Amino acid sequence: MSSVDWEKRYQQADTPWDKGLPHPMIECWRGLDLAPGVIVVPGCGRGWDLRAWAMMFPEHQVLGIDLAESAVADAQKNCADLPNVRVIVADFFDHAHWHDLAAMRNSSISLIWEHTCFCAIHPAMRQTYAATVAALLKPGARLVGVFFTDIREDNGQGPPWNCSMDELQNLFGSHFVIDSPDWKHLTFFGRDGEERSLCLMRMD
Ligand SMILES: C[S@@+](CC[C@H](N)C(=O)[O-])C[C@H]1O[C@@H](n2cnc3c(N)ncnc32)[C@H](O)[C@@H]1O
Repeated sequence: MSSVDWEKRYQQADTPWDKGLPHPMIECWRGLDLAPGVIVVPGCGRGWDLRAWAMMFPEHQVLGIDLAESAVADAQKNCADLPNVRVIVADFFDHAHWHDLAAMRNSSISLIWEHTCFCAIHPAMRQTYAATVAALLKPGARLVGVFFTDIREDNGQGPPWNCSMDELQNLFGSHFVIDSPDWKHLTFFGRDGEERSLCLMRMD
């Protein structure tokens, strides 16, 4: 289910979320002790975050996934100089059909990076999102990201749709230990106070 025609938004250059830069918070994960495996970025858009992860972890494969063909085409161009990046047109929730993942050198996923995909999907799909990441990640692997929590008012008119910390806990708490890193949160100009950084570790 998608309540937005994402492809049309890209074709019309109606993409106010796109800052033309990776999310500043990614840099804070530079020292992460990341097991071998693939870094997956759902809803990767034009691929700015893919670049940052691929340069920071050159030994890892980075897989970007997006529904919108135009976004994927732009991401492929934007990452053309990075041999460890692949970008595919796919529905994140349809992971059984990501043949590209199985074809990658190491097909287990060590990290999923969340940035404006969760807040872009309709709230009715949140259970599916949580079930998808729980199915994709093995114990010890992480979902790391920035989430629009209820510190930002959406008046029920998303995207972006807020999600309270209580709801995040309910959605992910049975499979993940949730940590809110207390270092200084970094974000884009104009998004101060809207997001929260979270690190979710998959439990056994
Ligand atoms: C708000 S945009 C954010 C894009 C990118 N993360 C950024 O910050 O520039 C949301 C993105 O999620 C993609 N998307 C939405 N639902 C998706 C799904 N089920 N599977 C894959 N991509 C999806 C859209 O096509 C869009 O590119």
